[in-house]
Amino acid sequence: MKKSSLVFIFPLLILLLASCRNKDADYIDPRGTDYAGAESCIQCHQDVSHDAAQNAHFKASSLALPENVLGNFRSGKNTFHYDKDTKLVMEKRGDSLYQVLYKNGKELRAYKYDIVFGIKNAQTFAYWHEKRAYELPVSYYKSTNDWGTSPSFSATVPNFNREIVKDCYSCHSSNAGSAIVKTSSTQRDVSTMFMDTDDAVRKETIVYGIDCERCHGPAKKHVQTHQKFPDLKIAQDIVTFKSLTNQQKLDMCSICHSGNDSRSKMQSRFNFKPGDKFSDYYRKNSIGNNGEIDVHGNQNGLLAQSQCFVKSETMNCTTCHSPHQKTKPTLASYSQACISCHKTANHSEATIRNTPQAILKSNCIDCHMPKQTSKAITFQRSGDEKLSGYFLRTHRIAIYPDKK
Ligand code: HEC
Ligand code: HEC
Ligand code: HEC
Ligand code: HEC
Ligand code: HEC
Ligand code: HEC
Ligand code: HEC
Repeated sequence: MKKSSLVFIFPLLILLLASCRNKDADYIDPRGTDYAGAESCIQCHQDVSHDAAQNAHFKASSLALPENVLGNFRSGKNTFHYDKDTKLVMEKRGDSLYQVLYKNGKELRAYKYDIVFGIKNAQTFAYWHEKRAYELPVSYYKSTNDWGTSPSFSATVPNFNREIVKDCYSCHSSNAGSAIVKTSSTQRDVSTMFMDTDDAVRKETIVYGIDCERCHGPAKKHVQTHQKFPDLKIAQDIVTFKSLTNQQKLDMCSICHSGNDSRSKMQSRFNFKPGDKFSDYYRKNSIGNNGEIDVHGNQNGLLAQSQCFVKSETMNCTTCHSPHQKTKPTLASYSQACISCHKTANHSEATIRNTPQAILKSNCIDCHMPKQTSKAITFQRSGDEKLSGYFLRTHRIAIYPDKK
């Protein structure tokens, strides 16, 4: 290599190295200095990171970039009619997406897609207005592969005033810091005064999606220790899953999968770390009470009503789910989890006669965990007066007599 080119490359290299170092060293996580951020895990946990990035948790919320938004924006497929004069059109303008309200063909206002919530079954969207985000009136549903009213929104009157409350972020994101809101008398920092009682959020503190440290707890020290001692093969400075009791393992998921009874809340879900008790966050759990538990959002409550759960001491969510799996397990692979405890099942003559052997052996799920309509969530498609059902898998594992 000629000397002149070295002279050129050398400073460039330093600059590059410096910028690499800076990126890591300068990273400040909005949650505080105990947190390292998901990027920093990749270097040592490549496979897990790669898989988790494609998991529904990572996409439970995101910025509304066109690649994160499902639903059809092409003409003919992108219109919701409220009445003969009023329509909402889903439009792509430049690099941004909008829900545009028209009256008698005249544009009244364009509302930008800023935030996306959801990925697996549905997506709902929000736009920012000052320090608050508001839900857009039309959502996307996978079951119909179509737009429909956002849950409990009107199909005849468009509404742009429903605020995205802090609770949405506490289950769908990894952080959302409170904005400092001026009250009429004095200036107060709401985040320290009233936990989560104000829904104004500081945009730049949002960590979209449910990331590694949302489930595993702050891991900056873990990163630093393993960087310093690369030969250490045993996890340091992090809560290990196997050290938890079965209840603690359950609680790690239940904090977001036990429904949302905000009246019984004791502290913000954001404070939760693995090892914590759910009962320190919510006064009473829906577990055990005979009230009907909706299939939406409360897998923990339904599972707790199953004999499988009640009569075995080791069952938790990871009995059937592996939390950073990228590929969707098949019903046959889920059924393997059933078979691991139920080597045989006493099916009646009738069940055996009416069911093909292959199904009886490889799909326990559709009969014992059938899909049910949510009572909490319904929606309407454009021009359809009927409510469309929102189907989810029940976690009350049981005998459903109509399934034979
Ligand atoms: C410099 C390397 C390094 C970095 C960076 C790193 N880890 Fe680890 N981590 C390890 C080693 C080594 C282990 C122990 C072996 C194993 O389980 O893979 C481990 C284990 C773990 C475990 C398993 C604990 C258990 O249940 O046994 C978790 C969880 C974990 N790390 C989370 C994280 C998270 C989250 C990040 C990013 C914020 C991260 N790690 C970054 C090296 C690292
Ligand atoms: C911080 C809140 C939070 C925690 C903690 C959490 N989840 Fe979730 N989970 C969600 C949300 C929100 C969704 C919906 C994601 C979507 O589709 O947008 C979800 C979706 C899921 C799904 C369906 C998506 C899929 O990939 O099939 C499963 C299964 C699941 N969670 C299991 C678990 C398990 C197991 C744990 C504990 C190890 C856990 N969750 C912990 C909030 C959470
Ligand atoms: C207690 C935790 C919790 C709260 C609070 C919560 N969600 Fe969810 N949400 C979930 C879970 C878990 C799922 C996925 C499984 C289900 O439907 O049971 C989900 C599903 C969704 C979905 C469909 C995503 C999918 O693919 O399954 C959307 C959209 C959504 N939530 C938006 C919101 C909005 C907007 C708010 C605030 C008004 C909110 N959620 C509040 C836990 C929560
Ligand atoms: C939804 C909650 C959740 C999220 C998000 C999550 N994990 Fe985990 N992780 C778990 C649970 C639960 C276990 C224990 C699984 C088991 O032992 O069955 C685990 C196990 C691990 C392990 C040890 C076992 C293994 O699979 O290698 C590592 C390392 C790890 N996680 C790292 C990460 C990293 C890195 C990320 C982010 C890219 C991440 N996790 C995101 C819940 C989560
Ligand atoms: C950790 C072990 C375990 C797993 C995994 C498990 N079960 Fe069970 N299941 C049990 C136990 C224990 C009972 C109670 C048996 C009794 O009462 O004698 C039970 C009871 C049942 C019953 C009878 C319920 C009733 O109300 O009478 C059905 C049906 C059942 N299981 C189906 C399943 C299916 C389907 C799966 C997979 C989705 C599954 N089980 C997974 C342990 C398990
Ligand atoms: C005995 C096995 C089993 C256990 C234990 C279990 N699940 Fe599931 N879960 C399933 C099956 C099967 C499905 C349906 C998958 C499908 O239809 O593709 C499912 C689906 C889900 C979904 C998506 C719901 C939907 O219809 O989109 C969520 C969320 C979920 N589980 C969370 C949890 C949580 C949280 C726990 C622990 C409280 C848990 N599960 C325990 C078997 C189980
Ligand atoms: C076609 C629907 C269907 C399928 C598929 C099915 N079951 Fe059942 N199962 C039933 C019904 C219905 C009963 C109640 C007894 C009866 O009428 O046969 C039952 C009863 C049971 C019981 C309680 C009886 C006992 O043994 O104590 C268990 C456990 C069970 N099933 C497990 C399973 C497992 C595990 C699978 C998958 C390998 C499976 N079932 C597949 C419909 C089904």
